[in-house]
Amino acid sequence: MQTTFVMVKPDGVQRGLVGDIIKRFEQKGLRLVGLRQLVPSTELASTHYAVHSERPFYPGLLKFITSGPVVAMAWRGVDAISVARNIIGPTNGREAGPGTIRGDWAMDIGHNIIHGSDGEDTAEFELGLWFPEGTIEWTRLAEEWVYEG
Ligand code: RTP
Ligand code: MG
Repeated sequence: MQTTFVMVKPDGVQRGLVGDIIKRFEQKGLRLVGLRQLVPSTELASTHYAVHSERPFYPGLLKFITSGPVVAMAWRGVDAISVARNIIGPTNGREAGPGTIRGDWAMDIGHNIIHGSDGEDTAEFELGLWFPEGTIEWTRLAEEWVYEG
């Protein structure tokens, strides 16, 4: 079991996609173990995207992420990190395939609707950053039908 950090970016919130996005992860069989809406501070956004701090798109990325509410989520399941990345699709919405969130709803690299952790280390770092009080422990009874054995 892994837990991954997923965030609907300000464009996804403004476009009214939060419900549809949650539905995709939920119906896939992942378990929602954290959910909060907030307008990220510059400090929070810059810590989250510190890995990109030398990239030319970084100032614009910070301005975008702090421009309005985002919806931060923690999703748990077997291989949740790669499963979530597959649901999200590649960075550039124009190149993302249909059936993925970015493929269905995004036309841009920057405004690409959603973020998902890209590995175990980043998931742990991002979950600690956005959910400092931890995630929720609960049993989703449907998992008896999601996973065999
Ligand atoms: P994310 O971290 O948001 O899940 O996206 P990702 O892994 O697919 O892409 P990454 O390379 O980590 O880039 C982080 C975010 O920076 C913005 N970006 N803009 N204008 C550009 O060339 C450019 N490149 C990246 C995107 O919002 C991307 O999601
Ligand atoms: Mg990334």
